[in-house]
Amino acid sequence: MSRKIASLEDLDKLRKEGLKSLYPDRTRIMVGMATCGLASGAKEIFDTLSEIKEKKKVDIKLVSTGCLGYCQKEPLVDMIKPGWPRIIYQEMDREKTFKLVESLTSGNIWKDSILAKLEEDEFLIFGEKRKYYLQDSLFKLNDIPDYHQVPFYRKQLRIATRNCGFIDPTSLAEYVARGGYYSLYKVLTEFEPEQVIEEVIRSGLRGRGGGGFPTGRKWYYCRKAKGDIKYVICNADEGDPGAYMDRSILEGDPHSVIEGMIIGAYAIGAKEGYIYVRAEYPLAVQRLRQAIQQAEEYGLLGKNILGTGFDFPIYINRGGGAFVCGESTALMASIEGRMGEPRAKHIHTVESGLWERPTNLNNVETWANVPVIIARGAKWFSKIGTEKSKGTKVFSVVGKINNSGLVEVPMGITLREIVYEIGGGIPGGKKFKAVQTGGPSGGCVPESMLDLPVDFEELTKVGSMMGSGGMIIMDEDTCMVDVAKYFLSFLQDESCGKCTSCREGIKRMLEILTRITQGKGEEGDIELLEELSEVVKDTSLCALGGTAPNPVLTTIRYFRDEYEAHIKDKRCPARVCRDLITYTIDEEKCTGCMRCLKECPQQAIVGERKKPHHILQEKCIKCGVCYEVCKFDAIKVK
Ligand SMILES: Cc1cc2nc3c(=O)[nH]c(=O)nc-3n(C[C@H](O)[C@H](O)[C@H](O)COP(=O)(O)O)c2cc1C
Repeated sequence: MSRKIASLEDLDKLRKEGLKSLYPDRTRIMVGMATCGLASGAKEIFDTLSEIKEKKKVDIKLVSTGCLGYCQKEPLVDMIKPGWPRIIYQEMDREKTFKLVESLTSGNIWKDSILAKLEEDEFLIFGEKRKYYLQDSLFKLNDIPDYHQVPFYRKQLRIATRNCGFIDPTSLAEYVARGGYYSLYKVLTEFEPEQVIEEVIRSGLRGRGGGGFPTGRKWYYCRKAKGDIKYVICNADEGDPGAYMDRSILEGDPHSVIEGMIIGAYAIGAKEGYIYVRAEYPLAVQRLRQAIQQAEEYGLLGKNILGTGFDFPIYINRGGGAFVCGESTALMASIEGRMGEPRAKHIHTVESGLWERPTNLNNVETWANVPVIIARGAKWFSKIGTEKSKGTKVFSVVGKINNSGLVEVPMGITLREIVYEIGGGIPGGKKFKAVQTGGPSGGCVPESMLDLPVDFEELTKVGSMMGSGGMIIMDEDTCMVDVAKYFLSFLQDESCGKCTSCREGIKRMLEILTRITQGKGEEGDIELLEELSEVVKDTSLCALGGTAPNPVLTTIRYFRDEYEAHIKDKRCPARVCRDLITYTIDEEKCTGCMRCLKECPQQAIVGERKKPHHILQEKCIKCGVCYEVCKFDAIKVK
């Protein structure tokens, strides 16, 4: 029997199937099994649940789902049991899993590891909130916060990540149940291509991959470009250190990107689509493959989509493994099988891109927003955010922060709200020092600017940028010169070397920074760094070189005193730069516990049990292990 969907009734039928699967008349347990969950041990929880289910014949529908964003609290388990409130458990392990299952059979809710209850499930596409099972719930759990009230989630608005952690990403029916492919149906049956472009322009959506170019305008230029064969591409190369927004969307909700791409292809008049996905994301590739196959099977992708005569296939290309391959022209060269090097853009890719044909490239998150814009309308979308930056942005908030994870927030939210309300502040009562936004070539924003509203313009004004959404939080123990050196060394490694200013300029800047951190800085180094920065910015071929000086310029701008301390006083105020510090042991405080002595990888610590120890300076490599393991505050850094 053909499973092809060719009418609204067919789609509704699949939706009903999906709703039954999302809310079965038996217990459904979802384990967050995106890469972050797996890294925290989610597979063990899933396997334990399957084992108990088999052995004890407990009736559970066990589902592996994507990332709910709160990576700090992984492994997360979301449980829906008829008659019970929906509960999200945090920091699960094997022992806790047994307790959870026991509670199902005993009929008493196990409360020890609850993160939140979920009273309402929001179906964003339909603009409706659903209450399931709760009306007649026997248990109210009044002392447990609702998901929407948990500080980590309270200020979030999940549009691009709307389904991540809520559906089984391998189930097309569950995607449809929450409104998936209804926008595609609407577009193909009710809209002219120009109307789709008009709607996206009016929404104010701007590219989420870094540049923030207006998406609808890019589509318009590509549609207008001459040529019978046009392409659309999804940029899933995501090479920024610490960033994983795109990976999470692909692992948790691959159909949202596919649907966005089909809508874009129809609007532009494209014949084929490519998803260029980072090869280091095997799970994302697997999810995409499954989703493409399903969409084809159901007539939502490939030939004669939804019976409308519109043809559009999508192919997957795995990335070349270089950061620069994420740049639009380098990416297209890489798909063609050439070296992933950027070219000058005097001819835009919307006119001559892949195989010299008009090509529209958008980021994963940009595509995932499109179905919601069509469903809820440009007006609804454009009400979210600031004057020039509409909608939401997904950030990966990592580094020295209590609640690290993926957050999707309305544009215009302040950095302070992200760091202190959503992120829960800095661990160990330490002081906040800076936040690095915009990936390796973004900038470091200091504490005095924490009230800055986050949008494309505001971040650029202070010397940083939105970039693709990496956000690295730094505390008082961070050396800002060392941070600039770290990002520059990443960019030096990743510069393709095609243009001299990027290849040589970044290298020279890195040499100066390295000297400074070694205590060999000279008077005039700061000015030289500033001068070189201007040259590299102005003369590089692509935005890698064009933005590479940002970490250096912003750290000089906001933390000049730290540079001066390194250069003039040969001192690292944060006590990070190895050549400028020495570790010693405070004999008064040392109890002779031998912990540091045992952990030192260089055997540089000597002493006897219960007698103060001593560090052999000639052997010490200043790795700081002794400082980390000492429980008596006896290790001193000078
Ligand atoms: C060195 C470099 C790396 C980039 N890497 C990515 C990337 O991994 N993902 C991405 O979406 N955009 C990346 N970009 C931006 C792309 O060139 C392009 O602007 C973007 O994919 C367009 O999509 P958007 O309009 O939806 O943002 C990179 C740019 C540069 C200069």
